[in-house]
Amino acid sequence: MVKLYVPSDMASVALGADEVAGALAIEAARRSLSIEIVRNGSRGLFSIEPLVEVETAEGRIGYGPVYPEDVPALVAAGLFDGAPHAKRLGRPEALPFFARQTRLTFARNGITDPLSFDDYAAHGGLKGVRKAIEIGPRAIVEEVFQSGLRGRGGAGFPTGIKWKTVAEAAADQKYIVCNADEGDSGTFADRMVMEGDPFQLIEGMAIAGIAVGATKGFVYIRSEYPFAVRAMEAAIRAGRERGLLGQSVMGSGHAFDMEVRVGAGAYVCGEETSLLESLEGKRGLVRAKPPLPAHKGLFGKPTVINNVLSLAAAPYILAEGFAAYRDYGMGRSRGTMPIQLAGNIRNGGLFETAFGVTLGELVDDIGGGTESGRPVKAVQVGGPLGAYFPRALFDTPFDYEAFAARDGLIGHAGVVVFDEGADMLKQARFAMAFCAVESCGKCTPCRIGSTRGMEVIDKIAAGQEREANLAVLEDLCHTMKLGSLCALGGFTPYPVMSALTHFPEDFGRPPEATLEAAQ
Ligand SMILES: Cc1cc2nc3c(=O)[nH]c(=O)nc-3n(C[C@H](O)[C@H](O)[C@H](O)COP(=O)(O)O)c2cc1C
Ligand code: SF4
Repeated sequence: MVKLYVPSDMASVALGADEVAGALAIEAARRSLSIEIVRNGSRGLFSIEPLVEVETAEGRIGYGPVYPEDVPALVAAGLFDGAPHAKRLGRPEALPFFARQTRLTFARNGITDPLSFDDYAAHGGLKGVRKAIEIGPRAIVEEVFQSGLRGRGGAGFPTGIKWKTVAEAAADQKYIVCNADEGDSGTFADRMVMEGDPFQLIEGMAIAGIAVGATKGFVYIRSEYPFAVRAMEAAIRAGRERGLLGQSVMGSGHAFDMEVRVGAGAYVCGEETSLLESLEGKRGLVRAKPPLPAHKGLFGKPTVINNVLSLAAAPYILAEGFAAYRDYGMGRSRGTMPIQLAGNIRNGGLFETAFGVTLGELVDDIGGGTESGRPVKAVQVGGPLGAYFPRALFDTPFDYEAFAARDGLIGHAGVVVFDEGADMLKQARFAMAFCAVESCGKCTPCRIGSTRGMEVIDKIAAGQEREANLAVLEDLCHTMKLGSLCALGGFTPYPVMSALTHFPEDFGRPPEATLEAAQ
């Protein structure tokens, strides 16, 4: 029996993975060969997807990218035996892109069958929840706090403090809500966890539930992720059958169950309070804080709301102990970050590494520069609300504080690369236009300011009273930054102002004039 692996995640399927699996089955049948095709998740380097792997005496041997039309020739050349071919990549984990990573959260992605509970358990799964049950709620919260884990959804708030607040709140019902709205440009790590290792997220939510005394969880997934929705629903069913979810999690006596909820396509519904409104069946309008969701969240009850990556880090922290996680990283940014390389970049994909790697290493070295081959002009980190960094800031280490010190943000760690063909005035206008479309409308600086922002950028583009309008734009950004209720309006000035500061020539301004104006 020949064992093959063909990914089943959305990206690989979009590239023809289903047809590749079908073609492999046909070639095997023609040779009367019995094969087993495991539909794993993607390992996360998209230039080699669909990646076909075959189990051999030397370990798993990869071929990629394999398109359906390649299959007959590959099989004829001996793919089933791991034989040489131009598309043979050798052991995938030995490829530099993977060998340089520190995979804690993504340790199983691409290795296991995402929907096999036994495979999950055989590859280190369930150790975390077992440890959690053994040490009890207070010690779980302490482990997470000591690990230094900060929220991976954008704000970087310490997860342990959030859990402690909910644990200490007295209520008849508490909730765990997983934010899987993943709306930031260039991000896909949450999707990869849900499609490629869904039990890890379920285990993380069960641990959170035990820690804070919540018996019910929801995972709010964006509607553009139908594969993730299917994978999570199937894994939740399997989790119930195998006792990870239900009246007594792993026989502990702690009850915890969860369900999937699908969003309806609003970026602002990734903002936690707006997400809670949406979960309650209302329009996704941002709530004023306080009260914090930890005190009054879903249906007015104390609620932990965390990003997929924050919750998915919990099983490792519990299984290996807080120090094993905390020992990675720099400064107050502890552990690893699954960084997503996207946009105009040769090696687009998921790169999990300890905090501290520089932007330059990520883009030039690991990412291999632009796909177009032209020089990099700008990199936007942190989604549509993140700043554009020029090459002069490529020495910035991946660290929450280091990015903030340069008026940037890490956010959900999406790194989107632009080559010299990018027009930064257009990018600044896009930031305002995005804010205008996605604004929930609750506060004036965001609702009205974003539209005025587009108008004033159009005037600058047309060369109309340029300096006066640039001053208006700066003033408007200042008002939006300080006067908006949430980060959608409050952070839109970051991409706008960074474009103006670092690429003044695209706004018809000489570099010196901008520097003077900024001082
Ligand atoms: C406009 C806007 C969109 C957001 N979108 C997301 C998102 O898609 N996913 C996410 O986890 N957090 C998102 N956030 C951050 C959440 O409000 C919240 O900080 C996060 O879910 C908390 O989880 P964490 O502590 O694990 O990061 C967004 C925030 C804003 C202001
Ligand atoms: S900043 Fe924008 S999205 Fe946020 S509350 Fe105000 S109007 Fe709504």
